[in-house]
Amino acid sequence: MHKIVKDYYGKQLQNSDDLKTSACCDASQVPGWLKPLLARIHPEVASRYYGCGLVCPPLLEGCRVLDLGCGSGRDVYALAQLVGERGQVVGVDMTVEQLAVAERHRAYHSEAFGFDNVTFKQGYIERLDELGLEPGSFDVIVSNCVVNLSPDKDAVLREVHRLLKPGGEFYFSDVYADRRVPDHARNDPVMYGECLGGALYWNDFLRIAHRQGFADPRLVADRPLDITDPRLALCAGSIRFYSATYRLFKLKELETACEDYGQAVIYRGAIMDCPCRFVLDKHHDIEAGRIFPVCGNTWRMLHETRFREHFEFIGDFNCHYGLFGGCGGGLPFDQKITNGNGGCC
Ligand SMILES: C[S@@+](CC[C@H](N)C(=O)[O-])C[C@H]1O[C@@H](n2cnc3c(N)ncnc32)[C@H](O)[C@@H]1O
Repeated sequence: MHKIVKDYYGKQLQNSDDLKTSACCDASQVPGWLKPLLARIHPEVASRYYGCGLVCPPLLEGCRVLDLGCGSGRDVYALAQLVGERGQVVGVDMTVEQLAVAERHRAYHSEAFGFDNVTFKQGYIERLDELGLEPGSFDVIVSNCVVNLSPDKDAVLREVHRLLKPGGEFYFSDVYADRRVPDHARNDPVMYGECLGGALYWNDFLRIAHRQGFADPRLVADRPLDITDPRLALCAGSIRFYSATYRLFKLKELETACEDYGQAVIYRGAIMDCPCRFVLDKHHDIEAGRIFPVCGNTWRMLHETRFREHFEFIGDFNCHYGLFGGCGGGLPFDQKITNGNGGCC
């Protein structure tokens, strides 16, 4: 599969318009705060963007960030501006043609930003141990439309867990299916290259995440994909595909379900670009200044991470009140195609 994917992204595709699905983000859905950052990115880098979501979580200043399958570097150069001079962004990709575009414009971006805080490495996201990256050294790992292309998703999540600092997070957009993709669709090279054939059934993704130490994956945003190419649509048949962004925290005390300890948080409203509300995930849109009841896992995701100083915390883990209401179950994705829901970049 690596060979097919390298050929697809290194030789066959020349820019985003060559894609055959709506997996790649629509520019009209880019949030306002991100637009000026993207406007500073070199046109050749921007034109070879093949991502399916937004991988810029809040509060990145000073962070060390790793981008898995960075391609020609659009997200790396956007993140470079968000982490700033004190931060660092490392991009990894296996396809030389993609990395050549990213490297070619490094000087252009360091001149535009006033600092050079990015590094690109050629390698496989299943074998990050070969790249000399220090274990437990990243605050945030991102990835945009890449994990589906990996033939060994367990290895990718294992490596992510190894490289994250405690309290760090894997924040990534990818393609998922509403069922297991059958072999005829999986083995079609274009289906695979277009990020459909290798897409995980969403519940299998949750199983892999649990197995690799991420007990409570949180869905941030999602949207159904439109397969515009008639042959691919026929090959996909009744399978529904979604682009979804998840965040997975490396916190060893997380439980596999949301348990109620009678806790609550108050968001102070001081994160830049989020003065009114802090959106942890699709089910936690936390209004500034308001007492917001949370389960034990959400408490830990805010208390034991870089978000801590931005919240007040009420309660502790001394008394357990059972399962937290509204926890999990069923297809997690929205069915309707909507515009500007923030799920895309
Ligand atoms: C759909 S493109 C996304 C590129 C980039 N994230 C973006 O948003 O433009 C997938 C990228 O992942 C890279 N890739 C796929 N599988 C990989 C693997 N196993 N190891 C490293 N890179 C991989 C490909 O070379 C390609 O550049």
